[in-house]
Amino acid sequence: MLFRQLFDQVSSTYTYLVADEHTREALIVDCVFEQHARDAALIAELELTLLVAVDTHCHADHVTGAWLMKSAFGSKIALARAYGAENVDLPLVHGDRIAFGAESLEVRATPGHTAGCLSLVSADRRIAFTGDALLVRGAGRTDFQEGDAHRLFRSIREQLFTLPDDCVVYPAHDYDGRTSSTIGEERSHNPRIGGEAREEDFVGYMRNLGLPHPKKLAVAVPANMRSGEPEPGAVQPAATWGPVIVTYAGFPEIAPEWVASHRSDVRVLDVRSPEELDGELGRLDGAALIPLDELRARLSEVDSDKPVVVVCQTGKRSAMAAAILRKAGFTRVANVAGGMVRWRELGLPN
Ligand SMILES: [Fe+2]
Repeated sequence: MLFRQLFDQVSSTYTYLVADEHTREALIVDCVFEQHARDAALIAELELTLLVAVDTHCHADHVTGAWLMKSAFGSKIALARAYGAENVDLPLVHGDRIAFGAESLEVRATPGHTAGCLSLVSADRRIAFTGDALLVRGAGRTDFQEGDAHRLFRSIREQLFTLPDDCVVYPAHDYDGRTSSTIGEERSHNPRIGGEAREEDFVGYMRNLGLPHPKKLAVAVPANMRSGEPEPGAVQPAATWGPVIVTYAGFPEIAPEWVASHRSDVRVLDVRSPEELDGELGRLDGAALIPLDELRARLSEVDSDKPVVVVCQTGKRSAMAAAILRKAGFTRVANVAGGMVRWRELGLPN
């Protein structure tokens, strides 16, 4: 199974992308609205077919990216039926299975942090996405959103601690840099519910966490009850001047074919060194020429009256150039994917 763990620093959320390596069918767990471009780029670069965006629960600390994923890929939105949220295509209940290729995740109801919390367990029981039910050396707070420490105690003990010792625990959050654990490890060392802890111990501990109210609660919960669909008019167009994508590496990129058919709408900046310009690849007519090594010192020479598309031999140095320009305040800038080598392969006119 293909597996990627992604992190959102603002909300300390882990997002998981899993896929069948042969069919490339994929599922994303707990994707974050603000990380959509990053996650969508990864799905595209790995040539995956996203079938489902599933949330382990209705989050209070961030807005789900599930609706954006559906818009981008036509994937289904999955969430516990218990919430009655809008835009949900797969209202999940305990015992359901979400299949992707030959792989699947089993749905286990693990309420307590919220009334609808689910955990997702791989068919071979080697991996469990435990949401905010079981965290690494912790457990999700139970003091709002119909939280109930008694229910959470039973959920963890009956639905999670019954999994094999070596089943890897992947939580929805961690605030201290811990990325995963195992059921056996948590059964022994979880300070709230591990070892000999009894229900009164757990409930007493949870009652006294003294956590501040989640900052985003008032925004996140209503948005998540729409599965992350933005309010009408709230969608910010990423780039209006051309079909710019942001790669998983974080660079704004545009297809050479688009550039070729919009030459008069953009400024072309070539960042190769002078001796490369007269080689077999040639250069684009009208391109401004500033070698990458000199770009930071010569930013004032870059015209910004039109969007700037940056080109080099294979698109690597120009990606760095695009990043330098962005940092310098150029908002309309993109790297020409594949550079002059790709341009030539496509047979586009110089
Ligand atoms: Fe949560």
